[in-house]
Amino acid sequence: MTTSDQTEIIIRRTVSEDIPKIVNLQKESFPYLARYGNIWHPDELESHLRIFPEGQSVADLHGEIVGSASSLIVHLDPEYADHTWKEITADGMMTNHNPQGDSLYGADISTAPKYRHEHIGKRLYDFRKETVIKFNLRRMIGGGRLFNYCDYADKTSAVEYAQRVINGEFKDPVLSFELENGFKFIKILPNYLDDVRSLNYASFIEWLNPSYGK
Ligand SMILES: CC(C)(COP(=O)(O)OP(=O)(O)OC[C@H]1O[C@@H](n2cnc3c(N)ncnc32)[C@H](O)[C@@H]1OP(=O)(O)O)[C@@H](O)C(=O)NCCC(=O)NCCS
Repeated sequence: MTTSDQTEIIIRRTVSEDIPKIVNLQKESFPYLARYGNIWHPDELESHLRIFPEGQSVADLHGEIVGSASSLIVHLDPEYADHTWKEITADGMMTNHNPQGDSLYGADISTAPKYRHEHIGKRLYDFRKETVIKFNLRRMIGGGRLFNYCDYADKTSAVEYAQRVINGEFKDPVLSFELENGFKFIKILPNYLDDVRSLNYASFIEWLNPSYGK
């Protein structure tokens, strides 16, 4: 991708016309999950736009959707409560969105494979951080895949794997990305999502809003 392309990528709020393109992006970005239909469906994306349009964003390159991020507001009690992806997104429909909540929950983020490592993911996270600050939320949280855990699972537990990524022993495409965007690893979430790469584990990640309450 040329530098000019990079500058011509716009990060903006999702509109309903984007939905078919986001579904295609999901198929490209989540080949393992797509096989089992574990990607966004148009009715879910429409529900997100009805319930919390401010939390839905895309990366737009001349009308091509090369990245997307989906979020809702939640209140976890206790604040690091175990949960699954289905529970925290109301089975993908986000009908549990809570405007009185204190946390923006990152339900999904992806960049099209041929546009990766160009900071599109970072820009989608920056857009979300602006949303956290705009809504004066305490934090952003999520359950991040352990994308390469499947290559280590026979000799390492999920929490040891995450610790070795945090220590910089090796990189994980998702956890390293999240750590680089200022997220802290809190703990492992078991049985989070049907995901052969992560053996259904996820990392509970947290970014604290530096201007919260100021
Ligand atoms: C995770 C993802 C969104 C990152 O998107 P991106 O636009 O490439 O992210 P950025 O360019 O902002 O950041 C890239 C950084 O992330 C990390 N990273 C991304 N892909 C990586 C890989 N394959 N191996 C190691 N580190 C990787 C690196 O630290 C990288 O920095 P570098 O480019 O300097 O090497 C993208 O890889 C993706 O869509 N993955 C598939 C979908 C998915 O699993 N999403 C997360 C759901 S929890």
